[in-house]
Amino acid sequence: MSDLFAKTMLKRKKLGFIGTGNLAQAIITALVEENSIARENIYITNRTPGKPTKLKKKFPEINYLSNNEELVETCDIVVFAMKPQDLQNAVEPISYVFDKSKLVISLAAGVTIQNLKRLVPEAGDIFRVMANTPARVKRGVFGYCSTNNNSANESYILELFSPLGLVVAAEEGEEFDALTVACSSGTGFVLELLHYWQDWLQDRGYEEEIAKKMAIETFIGAAELAKQAEHLSVEELRDQVTSKKGVTIAGLEKMREFEVEGNLAMSFEKAIQRNRQLAID
Ligand SMILES: NC(=O)c1ccc[n+]([C@@H]2O[C@H](COP(=O)([O-])OP(=O)(O)OC[C@H]3O[C@@H](n4cnc5c(N)ncnc54)[C@H](OP(=O)(O)O)[C@@H]3O)[C@@H](O)[C@H]2O)c1
Repeated sequence: MSDLFAKTMLKRKKLGFIGTGNLAQAIITALVEENSIARENIYITNRTPGKPTKLKKKFPEINYLSNNEELVETCDIVVFAMKPQDLQNAVEPISYVFDKSKLVISLAAGVTIQNLKRLVPEAGDIFRVMANTPARVKRGVFGYCSTNNNSANESYILELFSPLGLVVAAEEGEEFDALTVACSSGTGFVLELLHYWQDWLQDRGYEEEIAKKMAIETFIGAAELAKQAEHLSVEELRDQVTSKKGVTIAGLEKMREFEVEGNLAMSFEKAIQRNRQLAID
């Protein structure tokens, strides 16, 4: 399906969000800004009225409904945008409203396709999407998997989430867990490293504010360099910025001696274990 066709298709759909929290608001704002869907075709509900009332002030044409049942009845695409612990309470009582015509997209972290299928057995295709927090600044990484591997509805997922970042298909299981840890928890890992950089600079006399800016710009600069040098691997780029017997290589050799890569990998594995444990609990 061409991008243009998918765009036209989305424009004709009614899109509903159960839950109008941080992520739903970021998605809605991006969709409206990109003109991907008419504002009148967006429907929202929320447990309490505060967030929808605020969003309605920004986009008055959006439909705020007072109950989830009406939202499901009205919409072609239903997004579960609540916390995982609220999912069952929100969806179980209205499960009977779903039928094959409804495309379901769940943003609830850790809730498997199998559990979603159990919750809304009569729904059409169900997509599980894992987001990360930088989606709020349109630099997110989204992973998705589905009950139907060859679903034509995949184009809706690309259309809905691409305005907020990179969208990657991931098989449920090892691939999905890896994306969850590297990209979603990974945001926290990178912030931890950023903190080390800032601390080190502060210890050497820089004021907190400038040390923070220096650390952030170094991370963004290196990442942007890697992004723009599409023809080079990250390793090749690193070698380009590292002269033999120079300053950088002295530091890098020490990092290798301390087996930073192996130690980081162990931290990732620990997070994977916790992720699997939470999925069972
Ligand atoms: N935000 C991120 O960057 C991010 C990153 C990765 C994954 N996720 C996943 O995305 C999902 C949404 O995250 P979020 O950060 O947007 O959470 P959030 O800000 O807490 O929003 C969740 C919303 O769901 C509403 N809600 C709860 N029960 C409801 C019900 N029965 N009916 C209607 N609405 C209900 C809550 O209403 P109240 O206002 O009344 O509490 C709240 O506004 C979560 O599963 C999270 O794990 C988010």
